[in-house]
Amino acid sequence: MKIGAGALSGVAAIVANLNCRRPLIVTDAFLASCGLAEKLRDQILASGIKCKVFSGAVPDPTTDAVDQGVRAFLAGEHDSLISLGGGSSIDTAKAIRLLVANGGRVSDYKVPNPIPKAGPPHIAIPTTAGTGSEVTRVAVISDSINEEKMLIAGSALMPSAAIVDYELTMSMPQRLTADTGTDSLTHAIEAYVSRKANPFTDTLALSAMRIIWAELPIAYRDPDNRAAREAMMLAATLAGIAFSNASVALVHGMSRPIGFFFHVPHGLSNAMLLPTVTQFSASAAVGRYADCARAMGIADHNDSESDAVSKLVEGLFIRNGELEVPSPKGYGILEARYFELIPTMAMQALASGSPQNNPRIPSESEIEQLYREVWK
Ligand SMILES: [Fe+2]
Repeated sequence: MKIGAGALSGVAAIVANLNCRRPLIVTDAFLASCGLAEKLRDQILASGIKCKVFSGAVPDPTTDAVDQGVRAFLAGEHDSLISLGGGSSIDTAKAIRLLVANGGRVSDYKVPNPIPKAGPPHIAIPTTAGTGSEVTRVAVISDSINEEKMLIAGSALMPSAAIVDYELTMSMPQRLTADTGTDSLTHAIEAYVSRKANPFTDTLALSAMRIIWAELPIAYRDPDNRAAREAMMLAATLAGIAFSNASVALVHGMSRPIGFFFHVPHGLSNAMLLPTVTQFSASAAVGRYADCARAMGIADHNDSESDAVSKLVEGLFIRNGELEVPSPKGYGILEARYFELIPTMAMQALASGSPQNNPRIPSESEIEQLYREVWK
């Protein structure tokens, strides 16, 4: 990992260290059109390494976009991948890597199916703070055929290297700052309360939530604040390592179907769910949630555990107001369609496996009830 302002300038050296000669840059249309992908490509070309750009990554990356990327990779006889962008670009590169090495379709490797071979090296360069995808062994790809957000996971998906340069996040619009930052906060909280948490992931998760709780409102209100941007970028990566090793839980399980069916950005659908799902889950891990409240500075040691948890839930609701997070209804989702899809969403949430890591393991009907509760 290369971390800090200007780390991006080390990209050609990393490509060379990995013994790669023909990387394919995987990015989205926006980063291609604003010149950032071109700048990266030119920087690599200047070092004598051949390089092309594939700009077909899309939000909620689909199997169609992945298949196009695989064709671009093979047609250009590439030997490595560089993803540049948010979670969508990084996850698309992970899936291209998976298929180039193992053949078949993404659905063949849906959790809990194993991924046999790691494939070509992948250097991840996040431009949001963020999904943490640069340090995780998971990716989420939407099946273009059967309407499902598929989770794929395995050490084979872990990027070979990551460049975590917060200067790339300075121009993020306000909404994206809020949504990706809340995604990171959700990673930290869910990793900490997860049934798969361990002392290593606890340390990372607590550090991440402490930073995000303090810095996200600053980065949201004052986008040019370099210190806040730097802190958020670091925290997003910390939270990424935490959840990649401890897993996420019910919020993520329920968030993916909302994202798939209604095209709500991932961090925003997490935010819609986080306070209510925390309220639902808290009774099963009061001490753990109280730790979160104290780490985030919402409660202190004079508060009882149950008071700390109440303050946490209240704080999460208030924070959603500050960050102007709409409910599903406020987002403009059609009511009839939302309620019609609740059983399907609940089934997909459970099938993802994430709810089983939650401190309070929900039944299908409890998940349906939570979807109804957050509608507003
Ligand atoms: Fe996430």
